Amino acid sequence: MSQAYSIIYDSASYDLANGMAKDLGLGLDGMVEIIRTAFKDGEFKLRFSNEVKADEAVLVMRMYPNVNDNVVALMFALSKLKGMGKSIRVVLPYLAYARQDKEFLSGEVASIYVIGDMMAHYGVKELITIDVHSHDILGRLGVRVTNLSASSMLSEYLNNSGGLSNPLVISPDEGSIERSRVFAEYIGTDYAYLKKHRDRATGEITTDEKELDVKGREAIIFDDMIATGGTIANAAKMAKSNGATKVLAVCTHALLIDGASDKLKDAGVDSIIASNTISNSFAVIDVSALISKALQRDA
Ligand code: R5P
Repeated sequence: MSQAYSIIYDSASYDLANGMAKDLGLGLDGMVEIIRTAFKDGEFKLRFSNEVKADEAVLVMRMYPNVNDNVVALMFALSKLKGMGKSIRVVLPYLAYARQDKEFLSGEVASIYVIGDMMAHYGVKELITIDVHSHDILGRLGVRVTNLSASSMLSEYLNNSGGLSNPLVISPDEGSIERSRVFAEYIGTDYAYLKKHRDRATGEITTDEKELDVKGREAIIFDDMIATGGTIANAAKMAKSNGATKVLAVCTHALLIDGASDKLKDAGVDSIIASNTISNSFAVIDVSALISKALQRDA
């Protein structure tokens, strides 16, 4: 049977690829694994496990961890697909380097546009991603971007899990105000936001003190990602000192670098709730269905 799509994936993204293949009704020969063989000098080579049969190739890759190796693997795989003359869609549920979208300090490289240029060079028809860090980059990447959101699924999970009597959604910085506003709407409650500052040289995070209307309420701190946990830890401490009964840290991308989950626990976070754009033990929702729906809409 001919397949509408071939899904190309690496081993770290098997579960997402498999979920998508099931949703799209693809058989086993609709899935192609990218096998990496590493050499002692740090180089690796890629091999596609079987033939890419469909004209429409969908390459899915979790970019974290091992971001830089994954960027190279992405480039190699795209080169191969372009050589085969495929129509290429790339699914990067977590778009790494999206935070480096400016020359913040003089002389820096706005890395995300280099990633965009690379995809454009290999003729990528569409990039599908989820809760991209900055909407400013959409339309400027050189490839068409479909930016999906896991917010509605995360809010459904919270609404169905019970235990929330009068929550307040808190955006831990100004960058997440809009997504927190929408999330609060899904939850059916109000929201507040904090002002965060990051020292561009040291990376140190400080958050302005603010009175929050969270006394006797559950605080839902909502952000696109948890990396080191510093941003949410500051917000959690503030929610606690303002009388929150419970603190939930909710995000799409749980990178949870260097003991971030312990840092959050120490700051008063009761639970972390995340999606599986990055493999992590706090994932409660599976984004593969979201991606399949976007592909089906476009078919
Ligand atoms: C940046 O503004 C993002 O939205 C997140 O707030 C940030 O990346 C989280 O990083 P960390 O967990 O290291 O504070």
